[in-house]
Amino acid sequence: TRGHVWYPASFHCTKKKRVGLLKPLLSLSLVFASFLMIHKLKLAEKDGVGVKRMRDAVWCGSECFSFKKRVVKNSLGSSESPVLSNGLDAQRVSKGTPASWDAQVLNCSEDASVRTQDWFGRLDPRFHQFVLHRHCRYFPMLINHPEKCADGEVQLLMVVKSVIEQHDRREAVRKTWGKEHTVDGKKIKTLFLLGSPATGKDTKNLQKLIEYEDMIYGDILQWDFMDTFFNLTLKEVNFLKWFNIYCSGVQFIFKGDDDVFVNTHNLLQLIDFRVEERKEAELFVGDTISKAIPIRNRQSKYYIPKELYDKPYPPYVGGGGFLMSSQLARRLFVVSEDLELYPIDDVFLGMCLQKLQLAPEMHPGFRTFGITRRRVSPMNGEPCFYKNLIVVHKLSAQELLRMWSVVHNEDLICAQRVSV
Ligand SMILES: *[C@@H]1O[C@H](CO)[C@@H](O)[C@H](O)[C@H]1NC(C)=O
Ligand SMILES: *[C@@H]1O[C@H](CO)[C@@H](O)[C@H](O)[C@H]1NC(C)=O
Repeated sequence: TRGHVWYPASFHCTKKKRVGLLKPLLSLSLVFASFLMIHKLKLAEKDGVGVKRMRDAVWCGSECFSFKKRVVKNSLGSSESPVLSNGLDAQRVSKGTPASWDAQVLNCSEDASVRTQDWFGRLDPRFHQFVLHRHCRYFPMLINHPEKCADGEVQLLMVVKSVIEQHDRREAVRKTWGKEHTVDGKKIKTLFLLGSPATGKDTKNLQKLIEYEDMIYGDILQWDFMDTFFNLTLKEVNFLKWFNIYCSGVQFIFKGDDDVFVNTHNLLQLIDFRVEERKEAELFVGDTISKAIPIRNRQSKYYIPKELYDKPYPPYVGGGGFLMSSQLARRLFVVSEDLELYPIDDVFLGMCLQKLQLAPEMHPGFRTFGITRRRVSPMNGEPCFYKNLIVVHKLSAQELLRMWSVVHNEDLICAQRVSV
């Protein structure tokens, strides 16, 4: 996401315009989703594996959702485990990691003591919700996939932050860099991270949509917290915890937004180089920002008031896309639990790294800042630019699909290759 510096005031304007469009868009997407379902079901009939996959997904879906209802109605919680557990999980119990997701009750009431502090009165009201709920860290899961990493060694897990409404972007990612497949015996798997619809939207329909979508693809993790900008750090910490429970066999994590272009081939090459050099254990690479300070311009999406934070930021990477080793992800999870949540998720991860006395590594192949839709760069339309890089911000779903096919056209000849 992070154009911290480049597109300040645009956020609120675009948001207002969209409201009127939401309803018709929603109906359209519902129609589209149903159509997709029917299409997939037809395909599945022809394909025995598909049928089995559908059945598994349906089963998991209904299980997860009936669980949700149970939790909401029964605040005492339930002794039944809401999610699948497998042999791997059982082993891990002894090491102090829970066998399955253990945040089962939605328990996020505001911390009233915050209201009595004198800085709270001075604080920009936009941050009130955040500080009042800052102590709520782990949330129940609405859609889980405990089996995602279970089948054999997964080399690379692609983890994509998305919101329910961005259905088309997820489709494009699934058809391009997020396609689950095996390269030279190395498995690549994909997951999308979502919260619940923010209030005021067509909550019920949006939730139905996402359940359908997950039934088809089985690649959604959803938590029961509102998917708002200031809640993005919740996605970070809930994912780290999830990963720690369910993904012991994974080697690397690529974490990115749903509006980036990823050159999977170059990404895998970077991994190979680091593995050869035996430098993978502390791997954390991306578009690094050092010596940044909090933005005090109140118009900015990334505005942070002095009351909240008054120091320079530690080095951090733009959340548009970065690569980390799973060893490091586990260490990040451990230190994250001792840090207060911070409203900007990229910076929060930087704080965790700093606690480990590590700094992210800058890599010129990651271009998550600076190339935006507003600043039209001539590079934005240049396929060779994409062929030589690892991650590029930020593309619409159509642009991603188009660029992917151009870059993967064998006739494309580029004069020089930047080595990764
Ligand atoms: C909910 O949170 C409050 C305060 O954090 C705590 O005192 C209470 O025990 C929690 N309730 C449940 C059911 O976990
Ligand atoms: C984050 O999500 C929780 C749970 O849905 C909600 O209570 C809180 O208000 C949200 N915080 C912000 C800053 O949007």
